[in-house]
Amino acid sequence: MSAQAQVQASALPIEPAGLRDLWKLRQLEKLTFNREDAWPLVELLFVLVSPGIVRLKVDYNDKMIAFVAGETRASQGMGWIITLGVAPAWRHIGLGERLLAAAEEALHMPAIRLTVRASNQAAIALYQKAGYHQVGVSSRYYVGGEDGLIFEKRFLESWGDNSSKQNEKKQIWG
Ligand SMILES: CC(C)(COP(=O)(O)OP(=O)(O)OC[C@H]1O[C@@H](n2cnc3c(N)ncnc32)[C@H](O)[C@@H]1OP(=O)(O)O)[C@@H](O)C(=O)NCCC(=O)NCCS
Repeated sequence: MSAQAQVQASALPIEPAGLRDLWKLRQLEKLTFNREDAWPLVELLFVLVSPGIVRLKVDYNDKMIAFVAGETRASQGMGWIITLGVAPAWRHIGLGERLLAAAEEALHMPAIRLTVRASNQAAIALYQKAGYHQVGVSSRYYVGGEDGLIFEKRFLESWGDNSSKQNEKKQIWG
């Protein structure tokens, strides 16, 4: 990928994803996650169609190069980022950071949590840069027995109650 393509990609629009993206998401998933962590097709389908899930993507030349999904867990009063991935050739140009911020905005909850492999230094660095801090550990959470670290970011004071944010949220949820 040329530097020019990278610059273009860093400014590509973030768009809602849907059922029509299933095969593109499948390709991205294969590129992004190892076999242990890649979701089976049925879970990809679920994340693309299930109500109450925020799903956002970045496409380039009709390929999906980045994806994030998050859900609201009303019983906990918080949102969860349930997946985030950027294709290897498109990393380090800010797409992960932009998608995470867009999902936070769309979820619009007082707090957002996520689980990350204890060894996943790149993702942990991204989350810490975005304002998350560790609040717990899920012992042996991942296939292979690795712990999952639970990170949280609180928004209570920073979300304004203005209508433009609500409108943006409606657009992203589709
Ligand atoms: C983690 C991941 C989403 C980051 O995406 P990205 O688009 O490359 O991240 P960004 O370019 O937005 O980086 C934002 C910040 O994250 C941190 N970061 C990202 N990649 C990093 C790396 N390899 N090493 C250290 N820090 C890293 C940096 O602080 C960076 O800020 P900087 O550019 O000012 O230094 C990407 O590496 C990925 O898809 N990994 C595989 C899937 C995965 O692990 N997903 C998370 C599951 S919980």
